[in-house]
Amino acid sequence: MTRVLVLNGPNLGRLGSREPDVYGDQDLSALRVLLTGIAADGVEIDLRQTDDEGELIHWLHEAVDAQNDVILNPAAFTHYSYGLRDAAALVTKAGQKLVEVHISNPHAREEFRHRSVVSGIATGVIAGFGFDSYTLALRAIGAAA
Ligand code: DQA
Repeated sequence: MTRVLVLNGPNLGRLGSREPDVYGDQDLSALRVLLTGIAADGVEIDLRQTDDEGELIHWLHEAVDAQNDVILNPAAFTHYSYGLRDAAALVTKAGQKLVEVHISNPHAREEFRHRSVVSGIATGVIAGFGFDSYTLALRAIGAAA
């Protein structure tokens, strides 16, 4: 099995009830079902969420050690966490893919969301397509059926 880590940062555990006008009304379990349903044969979707920056960083270290590709929604950490950026850089420097995804389009929102400290080291960025940002990312790393 090839594992793809789908990592979600703070407040994304609240999807479903959090600002449905921005993020839709589906939760992370629906996202897990969606991604598992389109994953290629032999691809395991390992979807996780944390509100803790250190935990997210440790999961990126795990991706480096296990040579897993990563789909990362850093949520608010996107805009200011240099620690997360450095951990994400370890993934791409190791030759693994890391796709930064956002459900909304941060560039169409408040100014503080226009800057991502992660994008510069990501393999690519997909934003603004709701949960399809994740399905497109899975396709982009060649792990969709
Ligand atoms: C987000 C956009 C971020 O600005 C925000 O802090 C989030 C979610 C998105 O998926 O659209 O929590 O990453």
